[in-house]
Order: sequence, then structure tokens, then C-alpha cells
Amino acid sequence: MSAPTAVILAAGKGTRMRSGRPKVLHEAAGRPLLGWVVAAARAAGCRRILVVVGHGQDSVREAFAGQDDLVWVEQTEQRGTGHALAQTRRHLETATGRLLVLSGDVPLVTAETLRRLLDATASAWGAMAVATVDDPGRLGRVVARGGDRLGRIVEHADAGPEERALRSINAGIYALRTPDIFVDLDALSTDNAQGELYLTDAVTAAAGDGRGIALVELASPSEALGVNDRRDLARVHLALVARQVERLMAAGVTVLDPARTTVHADVEAGPDCIIHPGASLLGTTRLGTGVIVHTGAWLLDAELADGAIVKPMSVLESAVLRGGAAAGPFARLRPGADIGEGAAVGNFVEVKKSRLGPGVKAGHLAYLGDADIGAGANIGAGVITCNYDGTSKHSTTVGEGAFVGSDTMLVAPVSVGAGATTGAGSVITHDVPAGALAVGRSRQRNIAGWRARRPSAGRTHEEEG
Ligand code: UD1
Ligand code: CA
Repeated sequence: MSAPTAVILAAGKGTRMRSGRPKVLHEAAGRPLLGWVVAAARAAGCRRILVVVGHGQDSVREAFAGQDDLVWVEQTEQRGTGHALAQTRRHLETATGRLLVLSGDVPLVTAETLRRLLDATASAWGAMAVATVDDPGRLGRVVARGGDRLGRIVEHADAGPEERALRSINAGIYALRTPDIFVDLDALSTDNAQGELYLTDAVTAAAGDGRGIALVELASPSEALGVNDRRDLARVHLALVARQVERLMAAGVTVLDPARTTVHADVEAGPDCIIHPGASLLGTTRLGTGVIVHTGAWLLDAELADGAIVKPMSVLESAVLRGGAAAGPFARLRPGADIGEGAAVGNFVEVKKSRLGPGVKAGHLAYLGDADIGAGANIGAGVITCNYDGTSKHSTTVGEGAFVGSDTMLVAPVSVGAGATTGAGSVITHDVPAGALAVGRSRQRNIAGWRARRPSAGRTHEEEG
């Protein structure tokens, strides 16, 4: 059989989101809702994916720029799901084939479910996903016929009390056939509570005229979760995050408290990593083997090699920790921070666009920006690379094994040679040769009898505060 085509309906306003952003661009587990649906369609083998867009379509298209298997179809006015599907007519009418019709706001659908729907079309004209739920909310209710065949779908707004009592709901995911479905869509009317052209009526028509719609029960009802408001979005986000956590655990990662761990879709981690409660692994963060991430760590697009450790409350963005390197507690590694093997960056140390060689230690209260620090160098507490002169950024080089004393200001551009030392509190404005000691501060003066000379000399100790 030829590869199925997918149509994703994503033009709706999503009024109840109360948002300036199109609903399908809201993110769950680090990906726009629509991105999840597109991924499921791809994984089910769809090579051509038509996306019906309308509300905020420019930003939707832009968010998916460069994804060449997507065909954008415009629905200028949102007159209902049936009307939305009808917009794809000129792309689909000329060929015979199976269509997966999906909703851009139902992101938990799995490729496995889509394959089951396609399989079900072996014995029926079409198929639809149904779920049995305790609280059907405002979802369409499914009236079955003969157990596994559809009788009809009734929208919540049109349902009477008996239909509303049904627990079987329409997930908004179908396998249909083209060009036949376009005939059903032509026959739709807006004679319903919402004055819309309902796709559900077209599916009901196919169920009633002998073609038959097979009902495919979802493996987990959560797959039917749709997003119509912010409460739905939170639910869907948590469900998708839970899936990512499960994925890591299946790959041999210890996640101590899954409910308090955030993992995005594109995160990868090797075996024997340990993730402590309250950690966030976001974007394209990659963890090697045996990486430990402690509580409160926030990692975005970070790369942590084997045996690296992120101590509590550290923030890493587009930063690299090489093998066995450690960061934190309370470290801030900004884009371009590259911490060498076995190096350690401690509390309140900020690193930006800087390479720290193997074994470098920067234990406390430092700012390292636009710097290259040689292997084994020691960066004292309070060291700052003064990299910005108000106009441009300049770089700092520290040689291997150098000892940069506490509170040294390295006024860039400047270099400290290999094995050189700077005295505590120095302001270094000139290059320091290898092996030298640089002291750049005023010499201490001691003025004898100072207290006695001051006007307040008569005050008591307590009054001075
Ligand atoms: C729809 C189904 C309902 C089902 C539910 C599952 C219909 C009439 N109802 O209801 O039976 O239980 O999904 O989540 O189909 N859209 C367009 N153009 C439009 C209208 C909608 O592209 O003119 C898109 C939306 O962007 C959305 C999807 O179609 O992604 C579903 O539309 P929505 O209005 O959310 O339908 P529901 O009321 O949720
Ligand atoms: Ca919906």
C-alpha cells in the first residue's frame, strides 16, 4: 500500500487560550503542540503532511520553516473542522488514497495509534480513535453501533442529557479516504449549535451509508487529551514530560522523582546518569554516561560529557562540561562556556564564551568572559575578566598552570603567561610574562594613632555601630 498522507487541522483561533499566539504554537515539553502531531505523522510513515492554517498562519509557517515535507493549506475563515479539511481538496482530490486526519491541538497521539487506525481500514472504509474517559468535558460523544463500529458522533454543544452521559469520546483522529471524503464534506450543513461545518458529521455520514467507520480504542485515554485552554495545556505538558522521563529511564537513567523533573523532547542521556528532584533538562541537552545532575539544575542545550556533575542550583545554557568536570553549586555557565576535563567551576562563578582547560579550578565568585584559561590554572575568588570597555569586547588569556590571585581584575585585552602569578587584589593592565609575579595595586600604608585623631574619638564603642 502507498504511504498515507496526513492532514493536520490547525487553523482554529483557540479563543479559550486567551492568547496573542496561535494555539498550535503553544509549547508542551519544549515543542509546539503542532510539532508533536507532525512528529507522530512522520513516525507513522506519512511522507506528505498537509497542515491547514489560518489564524496566525504566518507565525505558524515560520516556526516550521525548512521542514520540506509540510504543505501549507490556507483556511481564510474558520468555519469548522469539516470546512478546514475541505480546503485540502485541490491537493488531494486527484489521487486515491488513505488520509490520516489529525488535530493540531491533540498532541499526545502516537505513531502506534496512527498505524492501528490505518490497519483498521482493511475492514472498513474509515476508522476513528475513541477513548473511554471519566470526565468527557466538552468533547464529541461517540455513539457506537455493534460494538466496534461507529453509529454517530454528537458534539457536546448539540448533545442531549443521554448523549452527554456517554463516556466514549471522539479524539479527533481519523483514517479516511480520498477523494470520497470530499463528497461527504460537500454535503455538510451549519445546522448545529455552533453554526459550523463539522468534520464529525462527514464521518457520521460515512458510518451510516454502509461504508463503515471502525472504532479504535486508544491504548491510553490520555492520548485523546486536547488543548482548548491553559488548564488543558498544563495537563498535556505534564503528560508529554512524563513520557520523556520514561524514555530516559528506559535508557538506563535514574530519575529520582519523575513528577518533579522536567525533560524536553530532544534531550538525550546515557546510562547510569542520576537526575535529582527539581532538575530541568531542556532543549537539546545531551548527557553522556554517569552524569549526575543535582536538584534545581536548569540545563538548556547543554552538553555534559561522561562523569560530569552539576551541583545544585546551577544554570547552564549552551555550555559544555567535558569528562568529569563539575559545576556549582550556584554556577552560571552561559553560551560558549567550555569547561575542560576534570575542571571545576564553583559557587557564584559566571562563565561566558570562554574555554577552561583541563583541571582548571575557579571555585568562588568569579566572572570569566571571552577568556581562554590554560590547563591546571587556578582562578582565585573574586577574579574578573574586565572584557568590556563600553564599546567592544576584548579577550583574556591565562596560560597553563597560572595562579590568578583572589580579586584580580584582568583588564582585557591582556594575557597572563604560563605558570605566572598575580597578587591578590591586582588590577592587571599589562601582559604578565610566563613564570613572573605581577602585583598591580597600591602599596599599603599604615597611619599610626588614626582613631585618636578623628573628631568622633570621644564616642563609645557601641555608638559607632
Ligand atoms: C473537535 C471535534 C470533537 C472532538 C475534539 C477532539 C469537531 C466538530 N469536533 O472538537 O468531536 O471530540 O475535536 O479534540 O470536529 N480547526 C481548523 N479550522 C476550523 C476549526 C477548527 O483548522 O475552522 C482546527 C483547530 O485549529 C483544532 C482542530 O481543528 O486544531 C479541532 O478544532 P476545535 O475547534 O478545537 O474542535 P473541538 O471543539 O475540540
Ligand atoms: Ca480542540
